Amino acid sequence: MCGIVGYIGEEQAAPFLLGGLQKLEYRGYDSAGVAVYNGTGLHVVKSKGRLSVLDGILQGGRALPGVVGIGHTRWATHGAPSDVNSHPQVSDGGMFAVVHNGIIENYLQLKNHLLRRGVEFVSDTDTEVVAQMLEYYYKGDVLEAIGQVTDRVEGSYALGIICADCPEKVFAVRKDSPLIVGLGHGENFIASDIPAILSKTRDICRLRDREIAVLEKDTARFFNADREPIEKEPERVQWDISAAEKGGFEHFMMKEICEQPEALRKTISPRIRDGRIVLDDVELTAEQVRRISKVFIVACGTSYHVGVVAKYAFEKLLRVPMEVDVASEFRYRDPILDEDTLVIIISQSGETADTLAALREAKKRGARVLSIVNVVGSTIASESDDVLYTWAGPEIAVASTKAYSTQLAVIYLVALYMAQELGHTPPAEMAAYIEDLQRLPDLASASLADKETIQYFASKYFNAKDIYFIGRNVDYAASLEASLKLKEISYIHSEAYTGGELKHGPISLLEDGTLVVAACTYGRLFDKMMSNVREVKARGAVVLGITTRDREESLKQETDYQFCIPKITDFMLPSLSIIPLQLFAYYVASMKGCDIDKPRNLAKSVTVE
Ligand code: M6R
Repeated sequence: MCGIVGYIGEEQAAPFLLGGLQKLEYRGYDSAGVAVYNGTGLHVVKSKGRLSVLDGILQGGRALPGVVGIGHTRWATHGAPSDVNSHPQVSDGGMFAVVHNGIIENYLQLKNHLLRRGVEFVSDTDTEVVAQMLEYYYKGDVLEAIGQVTDRVEGSYALGIICADCPEKVFAVRKDSPLIVGLGHGENFIASDIPAILSKTRDICRLRDREIAVLEKDTARFFNADREPIEKEPERVQWDISAAEKGGFEHFMMKEICEQPEALRKTISPRIRDGRIVLDDVELTAEQVRRISKVFIVACGTSYHVGVVAKYAFEKLLRVPMEVDVASEFRYRDPILDEDTLVIIISQSGETADTLAALREAKKRGARVLSIVNVVGSTIASESDDVLYTWAGPEIAVASTKAYSTQLAVIYLVALYMAQELGHTPPAEMAAYIEDLQRLPDLASASLADKETIQYFASKYFNAKDIYFIGRNVDYAASLEASLKLKEISYIHSEAYTGGELKHGPISLLEDGTLVVAACTYGRLFDKMMSNVREVKARGAVVLGITTRDREESLKQETDYQFCIPKITDFMLPSLSIIPLQLFAYYVASMKGCDIDKPRNLAKSVTVE
């Protein structure tokens, strides 16, 4: 994905655009560029590399005067990161400059059409096709040209557009990629995400698919795909700008790890009243819960790992069959669903392309879709039958941490709510689960208290070549997430296996000194895990064990290093065991000198397939 920002007003555009792009750099960071109308025409400056390179060239924006402009930070899809492939892309005759987030799927066909008509292309990007088409269809009316283009392109796009003929306007349109319009006083904005414009305004309008925005400094007008004017109700952003800043931490990731207790509190406490789970935002009666014959959880990456934990919670509490699927597989595998199927979609961003496609597939097949989303008003949220928001606040680091924790909390809430409505679970047992859920924020704080132990351990193993995570039941689920966290930010090869699978192959990978992290918090299978620990130690592995405090002594007898977490309901254990494992990934990456918040080849949300 990429980041888009646009400005029209009375101040200099370029310094604002650079500031906005800095807030969006988590979305892509292999190149950046801006286009500004400078009184005579469109002036474009762009460069391969981090935003700081562009910032240097533009001297913080001072080198590019003008009060109307668009900017872009890129995560390459079509064409390698290079100056020429960076955005903005400009049309042949210099009439249009375009920034784009998404993928134009039929760009080759459209490009060939234009090539046959003599249009010359300079880049390998799909975006250039949009710029060229705009000029090709432009007959003096930009709105109409945009409509002609969106009538023809297939795929996903959020586009910011400026036109040399209309120096007093910024245009924007989107489909399946996020784009907001910010409303100021004497100035207006576009952006891929709120933090980019929060220093200027809290009043925003979200563009829906194929809606077009035409901004002048004093007005923002909106049109539907047929170019008819429409009204949009602005909404006010409630969260504070400090939520999207590092606040004294060296990295967003550490800040977000430390924010987990508070994020859990905000997510859980409004939904428990008088000892009962209350999901105000969801319409799910006892009768409807009874009719659910199957539950699917569909998501990607970390959000998918939440689904793996969910399976244990749902099957334990509800005894209803459940499948957990990676969205990119689900959407193409002809899943068996009907109106009695509940599909739970999990997504931090609410914009992940595969997850969104899976949602649409599920709805097409008649299933009811409940989504668990962090970004308010995102596409997944708006297309679901019901939405439960995780109140984690903005998550900026590419590696997801507080989103994982709050998604888990919502999963527990949903599972407990359904159990409550079904009424099969004995009241005392329900009360104990709910009490544990309420304690979760404090217990997460307790797990965070001993960072030094993990830091010390990381200092001994940050040079490891391979690291394996093992666990059973919910500990396996947490191991999957721990392994993903470590590999994505530290680039150390890592895998997660169930303890029982080791001897079916993976154990052959172990050598003298290989690090194995054994999650052994699930009491019922603790002894089985100790057998697995003995097996790996017998092959020379060094073992860090994680368990609950009551088993510390037993763990000490078998493992080289130990970390203990508080005891809690079994299916909630990953909420606590993941904390030292997130910290471990963080410290290892930090000691290796990795770019923790912006790991190579990744972007915060994957809005392309
Ligand atoms: O925004 P989403 O939750 O839909 O994103 C899903 C994954 O792309 C995301 O969790 C990814 O795996 C993270 N980088 C993991 O830290």
